[in-house]
Amino acid sequence: MPHGRITGWATHLPEKVLTNDELAKIVDTSDEWIRERTGISTRHVDGTVTEMSTEAGRSAMAMAGVAADDIDLLLLASCTSDQQFPASASVVQHNLGLTCGAIDMNAACSGFVYGLVTAMQYIDGGLDRVLLIGSDALSPLIDWADRGTCVLFGDGAGAVVIERSAEEPSLLGWDLMSDGSAAGILYCDHGGKIVMNGQEVFRRAVLAMESAARKAMEQAAVTSDDIALVVPHQANVRIIEASFKRLGLTMDRAAMVLHRTGNTSAASIPLAMVDAIDAGRIQQGDLLLLVGFGAGMSSAAAVIRWDAPAR
Ligand code: COA
Repeated sequence: MPHGRITGWATHLPEKVLTNDELAKIVDTSDEWIRERTGISTRHVDGTVTEMSTEAGRSAMAMAGVAADDIDLLLLASCTSDQQFPASASVVQHNLGLTCGAIDMNAACSGFVYGLVTAMQYIDGGLDRVLLIGSDALSPLIDWADRGTCVLFGDGAGAVVIERSAEEPSLLGWDLMSDGSAAGILYCDHGGKIVMNGQEVFRRAVLAMESAARKAMEQAAVTSDDIALVVPHQANVRIIEASFKRLGLTMDRAAMVLHRTGNTSAASIPLAMVDAIDAGRIQQGDLLLLVGFGAGMSSAAAVIRWDAPAR
């Protein structure tokens, strides 16, 4: 039975870059504090979900060599849709000239992994090609007077084309989870700004990442020794370090773009994954562990075997 595999990928970041030093002119913070406590140096701002998604989606389709008519479904993982409705996916679908269904999926920062698992089920269910985009524009939702949140977030998008073609499944194991009892520690009301209890999010994020990763690896019947590269959600380098320690992983196996993107929510995992591909860190047959967490509190992990077509 044919299965889904990733055949094209691309990312997009808005042009405008905001540095830590620029933030230090707005709130009582410093480049040193932000880098030491988060690992972030710069982030991109002033993007919109529909524009960034359109750019990333178009480039991913070009790389995969697929035409607009070939895409059977557009899944857009985002918690910051440009409008309350319509779904940003509908606007992107039109921009790209697609002739298929299009839906937004909101699993906050876990959205790309939720989307990947969902896309693979659609492929197993009979679709030939799904365009999956993770895209978030958090900068419009930032309270620029709150130094506890404004230093963390940025805007970005990453897209993959998933095609029904592989002989062997590339998704070997996965875990999706949500703990709605913690919804109050990280949220944004309609028309409001991001509100966060940073310490509580930090504490829970480490545990959620460990749990999701363990469950996905168990289902895939692999251990952390088998994983060539981990692509963690890029929120805070200290969260990644703490969860890696619990999983027996060393940081040299982490895909990282956090220092230059900040936390881009659903875009962070594809941004880090594509960066690692471009840097030659992912080889054919490698096992990747994608693991994220976010508001909700959602968490998600997937073990995939990298089997993109040779280029
Ligand atoms: N610059 C300077 N000082 C800052 C600051 C900043 N940008 N943000 C907070 N502080 C201050 C606090 O006000 C506090 O000061 P006080 O001791 O005088 O009260 C001090 O630093 C320590 O605050 P604390 O909250 O304990 O810092 P921390 O080490 O936990 O770091 C976060 C704060 C937000 C960076 C950290 O908690 C975090 O990353 N949490 C997870 C957030 C996250 O990942 N969210 C997205 C999930 S998808």
